[in-house]
Amino acid sequence: MPHDASASDATRCARAPESPRSISEPLAPPIQLSSVYRIAGLDEVDALFEGRADGFFYARDGHPNAAQLADKLAKLERAEAGVVCASGMGAIAASVLTLAEQGGRILVSEELYGKTTTLIARELARFGVTHDLFDPSKPETLRRALADAPDARLVVAETLSNPLLRVCDLEGIGAVAREADVPLLIDHTFAPLLCKPIAMGTTLVVHSLTKLIGGHADVTLGAVVGPRELIDRIHAVASTFGQTGSAFDCWLAMRGAVTLPLRVERTSRTALELARRLEVHPKVLRTSYPGLPSHPDHTLAKRQFSGGFGAMISFDAGGREQADRIIRGLRAIPFAPSLGDAQTTVSHPCTTSHRGQDPAVLGRLGVTPGLIRVSVGLEDVEDLWEDLAQALEFA
Ligand SMILES: Cc1ncc(COP(=O)(O)O)c(C=O)c1O
Repeated sequence: MPHDASASDATRCARAPESPRSISEPLAPPIQLSSVYRIAGLDEVDALFEGRADGFFYARDGHPNAAQLADKLAKLERAEAGVVCASGMGAIAASVLTLAEQGGRILVSEELYGKTTTLIARELARFGVTHDLFDPSKPETLRRALADAPDARLVVAETLSNPLLRVCDLEGIGAVAREADVPLLIDHTFAPLLCKPIAMGTTLVVHSLTKLIGGHADVTLGAVVGPRELIDRIHAVASTFGQTGSAFDCWLAMRGAVTLPLRVERTSRTALELARRLEVHPKVLRTSYPGLPSHPDHTLAKRQFSGGFGAMISFDAGGREQADRIIRGLRAIPFAPSLGDAQTTVSHPCTTSHRGQDPAVLGRLGVTPGLIRVSVGLEDVEDLWEDLAQALEFA
C-alpha cells in the first residue's frame, strides 16, 4: 500500500485495509458492516445524492445487505421497489408516517396486530390523525367508511389477521380503495407466498421479517414494498426516523428466505392436519384455521390462496386458566410469543400481542382469554399432536 509505506505501527493499525484484488466474486452474499463509505470527492457525493450514480454513503440511509434483501422481497411480491426497516413495526410506522397528515384519517381493519392498532389509534392520534374501522372480509364496510372520510389518507389491513386468521378480501378491498384513490397497505406477515397482494390491487405490502421470512427466530427486521416513487419517500422517512435495519439481520433474513417456499408448503400441510384434530377435540371450544370449512372466510381463502393456508392456528381452550394449564402442560412446544420459527411455538394473544387493547373490543372480535395461537413449524405432525393432546388432557 504505497500511501503508508513509511507509516508507524499505530498508523498501520488504525487504517482500514484495502479490499483484496480479485477477478472472482463471492457466491454467497458478504455481510457488509461498515456504517460509512469512503468516497472520492464532492462531485461523487453530488452524483450519489442526485441519483446519477449508484452506491452507498451512510448505513442509516442504505447499505448493500439491505439493498439486496429489499430487491429480493420486491421481486417476490412483484413490486417495483422495497425498503428494509429495523422491525415489522418500523416498516409499518415508516409507511404510515409517510402517508398520514395532520387532520387526515386512516381506515383500519378492525382486526389487527395489537401494536399496529396502538400505533394508529393512540400514537398518531397525538398528532391529530384520526381513524375509522372496517371489516376486511366485507369491502362494503370500507366503502361506507370511505364515504364518510373525504380526508382519508390510507387503508390498512392484514392478509390473515392476527390472531383469528380472518381473511382480507384483497381484490374487493383493493378495488374500493382504488375507487376512492386512497393507498392500501397490506400487512402480509402471516401469509408470505400464499398470494400476491400487489397483483390483487394493493399499493404497499409490509412484512415483519422477524417471523416467517427470517424463519429461525434470530432476526428482528421488517420491509415494505410497492411503487418506486412511494418507496423512495418511505425510505427517506425511515432514514430520518432512524428505522434502518442492521446488515447482519438483513443477511440472516436473506438466508431465511432461501427455504421459505419449502417451509410454507410443509407448515401449511402440518397446520391443516393439526387444525382438523383440534377442531374435534372435546377440550377445544373453537378452532380458527382458514383451511377448515368451518372458518368464516374459508371460501374466500380457497379463492385467494394457493399452495396452502399458512402456518398459524388459533384455538380457544375455554378461559385464561385453561389456557395457562395447556401452555404449562406442553412438554416440547415452547410458549414464546412470536411466530414463524422453524420450531412450533405457542402464544397467548390476550397477555402478549394484544395486551393493553380494549377488552370489550377484543371480546367482541373473539380474542378471548382462552385463546392460544399456534405457529406451526417443521416437526413431524405426530410428535406435535402427541404434545398438544397430552397438554389438552392435562387441562
Ligand atoms: C401481523 C404482524 N405484523 C407486524 C408485526 C410486528 O413485527 P415486528 O415484531 O418485527 O416489529 C407483528 C408482530 O408480531 C405481527 O404479528
